[in-house]
Amino acid sequence: MTQDKLDLLIDLHQPNPRQGPGGDAQTELALRLTGLDPAAPLTVADIGCGTGAATLALARLLPQAQITAVDFLPPFLTTLQQRNKAAGVADQVTPLAASMSELPFADAQFDLLWSEGAIYNMGFENGVKNWRRFLKPGGVLVASELTWTTNTRPVELQAFWDAAYSEVATAADKIRVLERHGYSPLGYFVLPETCWRDAYYRPLQAGFNDFLCRHGNSEAARALVAEHEQEIALYEANSMYFGYGVYVARRITFPQTSHLFP
Ligand SMILES: C[S@@+](CC[C@H](N)C(=O)[O-])C[C@H]1O[C@@H](n2cnc3c(N)ncnc32)[C@H](O)[C@@H]1O
Repeated sequence: MTQDKLDLLIDLHQPNPRQGPGGDAQTELALRLTGLDPAAPLTVADIGCGTGAATLALARLLPQAQITAVDFLPPFLTTLQQRNKAAGVADQVTPLAASMSELPFADAQFDLLWSEGAIYNMGFENGVKNWRRFLKPGGVLVASELTWTTNTRPVELQAFWDAAYSEVATAADKIRVLERHGYSPLGYFVLPETCWRDAYYRPLQAGFNDFLCRHGNSEAARALVAEHEQEIALYEANSMYFGYGVYVARRITFPQTSHLFP
């Protein structure tokens, strides 16, 4: 992607409460599924945090936690810090500008790794494989990921996603990936459509006109809006076939002396 397009993308998404589908109630549900004690002084990383929708919810739900909020786009982290200050949780959150594929974390640093709508940037399998070592034994990963919600679907839709993100799969396949890489699944649910429509797409659409004005109705700005409108239309036409699955899985650590089957 060119720097100009990245700058436009940032400007389009930065004013919005979230940069992907999700919701506070769903963040809370996923947190409950981890089984972690919300009153404990947990160490948490929110990877691909954007402007901090989930970070803010986690800080509220985990008042003793220290949260490292990671994104590779510094402007998003600036907004995140402003939101944290306004919400009175800035002392719980450390923003970190870093790539999710080169995280400067220590082994076993975290009780909880969180990633809403972001792990696809390095691929789900690559992400769960590479991030595992940052979890303490028994620590928990929560990641939302594009998922087929039915076993069959229109061939054109399959072809579209095969080209755009070939790791889209059913929940059973995603859970197998987690198991293959040393996690034990604790829970799975699908984000309701309101998390796409009301929480993500409506605020995004509401900002299209202002965005076009800020950029003098340039061809590049119009093309970006058209891209997003296509994405929204694709979702509206096919929301029964795909959605975001939320995966909650614990890092397993085997005793060194065990003889394992298979
Ligand atoms: C779809 S947005 C989701 C943001 C946020 N979690 C939310 O739900 O509102 C994906 C986020 O991942 C970030 N991102 C993309 N590639 C990244 C990378 N390689 N390393 C770190 N962050 C990345 C983007 O800047 C963006 O903020």
